[in-house]
Amino acid sequence: MVIKRKRGWEMPEHLATSEALFLNRRVLIGGAAGLAAGSLLGGRAALAAAGDQTLYPAAQNPAYTLDRAITPERFSADYNNFYEFGTSKTVLPAANALKTHPWTLKIDGLVEKPFEIGVDDLIRKVGLEERLYRHRCVEAWSMAVPWTGFPLSKLVALAKPASGAKYIRFETFMDKAMAPGQRAFFYPWPYTEGLTLAEAGNDLAFVVTGVYGKPLPNQFGAPIRIAVPWKYGFKSAKSIVKVSFTADRPKTFWEGLQASEYGFWANVNPAVPHPRWSQATERVLGTDQRVPTLIYNGYGEQVAGLYKGLEGERLFL
Ligand code: MTE
Repeated sequence: MVIKRKRGWEMPEHLATSEALFLNRRVLIGGAAGLAAGSLLGGRAALAAAGDQTLYPAAQNPAYTLDRAITPERFSADYNNFYEFGTSKTVLPAANALKTHPWTLKIDGLVEKPFEIGVDDLIRKVGLEERLYRHRCVEAWSMAVPWTGFPLSKLVALAKPASGAKYIRFETFMDKAMAPGQRAFFYPWPYTEGLTLAEAGNDLAFVVTGVYGKPLPNQFGAPIRIAVPWKYGFKSAKSIVKVSFTADRPKTFWEGLQASEYGFWANVNPAVPHPRWSQATERVLGTDQRVPTLIYNGYGEQVAGLYKGLEGERLFL
C-alpha cells in the first residue's frame, strides 16, 4: 500500500495571510547607512559570475524537491543580505566589485593536515548536484531556490577532522577595498558562522557554488557559500575563504553583534519570537503572501534528531 505522506512544508492555502509588517534588523545599528545604492539592473550583465560554466546546470537530486514555486530570479537576485556590500537589500551593484576567480579555500584547525584548495579544483573533485531548498531569513522573509553544490559532508571528509574536532567555523573574505561595508567599524568583521560537526554531517547541509543553473552571481555569495535550510539564513555564510575545525564553539558574527537576538543554534521556529518581532509567519519573496513559518523550516523530519538531549540550549534563537 502506498501511503502519501504530507511533507513538512506543504501548507493549506487558507493559512496564508497578507503581509502586515516590515521588519528590518538595521534598527539595531542606529546610524548604519546603506552603502550600496544604484540601479538594480546596472549589474545584471554581471550576474553570470566567474566559474566553470560548463559544469552548470548540474543534474537535479530528486530527493530535494519542493511543493512550492521556485522564487523567480528577478526577485531573489535583487533582494540580498550581504553586509560586506551594504545594509540595503540592493547589494547587487556593489557586489560586482568582488573578484571571485581564482578563489582559494583554506582548511585548517583540528584536521589531519591543513591545506588550501582552489574552488574549481574542489568542485572537480566532489562533483555538483542541484537541490531545491527553502530559505527563511530571520527577518521573516523567505524564498525557494535551486542551489547547485555538494553536501558539506564531502568537504568534511576531505578535511579529515581530528578526534577533538567538534565544530566547524566558516569565515568570509576580508577586503575593505573591495567591500565597502567592511569599513564600518561597528561590525565584528570578518563574517563568521559555525555549525556542530553533527549538523555539518547532516545530508541537508550544503556547500553552494551555483544557483538557477549557473555559477553563483556575486550577491548570492560567490563563489562558494553554505546553505543550511533548517536554520535562519544568517547561518549560511557567503563568499567563504576559510573553513576551520575547532574543539570549542566558535563565536559568530551576529552573536558578536547582539548575542541576545542571534544565537549559535538559530533553528527556525515559529513559536519562538525574535525579541523584536514574531517569527510565526513569513513574507514570500516575489508574492504578496504571508504564510505560516514551519518548525525547522519544514525540515524537522531530517534534523530534529540532531537536538536530542540539548533541550536546555537556546536552540531557536
Ligand atoms: N554572509 C555574509 N558573508 N554576509 C552577510 O551579510 N547575510 C546572511 C547570509 N550570509 C550574510 C551572509 C543573511 S542574514 C541571509 S538571510 C543570507 O545570507 C541571505 O542570502 P541571499 O542574499 O542569497 O538570499
